[in-house]
Amino acid sequence: MPKIEIMGGNTLSGEIKVSGAKNSVVALIPAAILCDENVEINNVPNISDVDDLGDILRYLEVDYQRENNTIKINSTTLCNKLIPEEMSGKLRASYYFMGSLLGKCGEVSMSFPGGCSIGERPINLHLKGFEKLGALIEDKPTGEFIIKADKLVGNEIFLDVPSVGATINIILAAVKANGVTVIENAAKEPHVIDVCEFLNSMGAKIDGIGTSRITIDGVDYLHGTKYSVVPDMIEAGTYVIIASLLGNGLKVSNLNPMHIESLTSKLEEAGVELLIGKDFIEVKNIRDYNAIDITTMAYPGFPTDLQQPMTPFLVNCNGTSHIEETIWENRFMNIEDTVKMGASIEVSEDNKVATIYGKSKLVGKDVWATDLRGGASMVICGLIAEGITNIYNIHYILRGYDDIVGKLRNVGAQIKIVDE
Ligand code: EPU
Repeated sequence: MPKIEIMGGNTLSGEIKVSGAKNSVVALIPAAILCDENVEINNVPNISDVDDLGDILRYLEVDYQRENNTIKINSTTLCNKLIPEEMSGKLRASYYFMGSLLGKCGEVSMSFPGGCSIGERPINLHLKGFEKLGALIEDKPTGEFIIKADKLVGNEIFLDVPSVGATINIILAAVKANGVTVIENAAKEPHVIDVCEFLNSMGAKIDGIGTSRITIDGVDYLHGTKYSVVPDMIEAGTYVIIASLLGNGLKVSNLNPMHIESLTSKLEEAGVELLIGKDFIEVKNIRDYNAIDITTMAYPGFPTDLQQPMTPFLVNCNGTSHIEETIWENRFMNIEDTVKMGASIEVSEDNKVATIYGKSKLVGKDVWATDLRGGASMVICGLIAEGITNIYNIHYILRGYDDIVGKLRNVGAQIKIVDE
């Protein structure tokens, strides 16, 4: 079992380059099978979620090649068959094969998707969308879904909540449907925009991109494309938080600052001095910070995926901060080990609000990554703590952060992966 070992306390300087977005590329890969010619995707992050999607493509007999940060996909040899639990259950984003196989072949059968256990994670809105387009859904007692349509026909679909997954999945099913589909209350995250632009680069007709009303005018054929994945806003935000805590001339580059304004405005409210450029954010030096309150919301609100990485920052602020988590029911799993390291945090009985009494000094301990972003939070705790922190269960972290250990070591952190 490999672990991450960190000797905390170093200030960090230099440059960290942000990779392509996990939550975009995990949709672009399934989306690529809708294309009738060759697809090339660049700026692909080296994360295990990409490996797992590649395995599914190969299993479906798609021509899938990966070299460094580029993948090439040609799905003309695709063989549509049941995606078994051992493949779909490895990650959440396997659910995008529902939309893309339905859109391409009019039929999909697969087991329930996996992913971090951060809440119930229903997919009722995805299924409601497919049904509105004319699909029939059979939910087998063995845990498999069979979704079929003789013909997919555009329709108006209102989403009860602006779900990222449901918005993308419905778009995937609708790009080749007959007629026009309208999604109301659609998600507006940069990764949703990226998927739309990727499909439009193949000749899809998607409008209202980045707004809560997306229209998709179905087309018969999608031509080849070369596309570069948008920078990862959550990875960017994680490193900007690290820079705020430990930066001594630390620049986080290859990002779009507009994507993380909800974070930077909060950091500035706490007193962080950020130098914000066109595609970078830099922290020249660290200061004393004041407590702030955060409420997670759909984009452009404060992202739930940055809530856990933000916790060690709030531990380091003077005064009492609050985090209100409104998206997932179970996203405070990192708190237990943060408290073990010396933080003073209370979580409300309904598991929705964490109250952080700062400022506390952290001390290195043996801790666990409970999920992807919780794992990133433990890395940050380890970086600011006194002494050695060992983080176990690191497969969660490697699912979504491209070379986190190498990137941090390059800017002066004492961090390594140790194979025990
Ligand atoms: N929801 C429903 N029904 C649905 C779908 C969602 O009620 O059919 C609810 C959820 O329970 C949740 C809210 O809607 O309360 C938002 O869920 P959403 O569908 O937007 O989440 P997701 O698509 O499953 C993606 C990211 C998550 C990220 C959320 C929110 C991927 C693969 N995952 O999940 O990323 O937290 O959007 O931004 O894109 C992560 O990267 O660590 C991660 C968990």
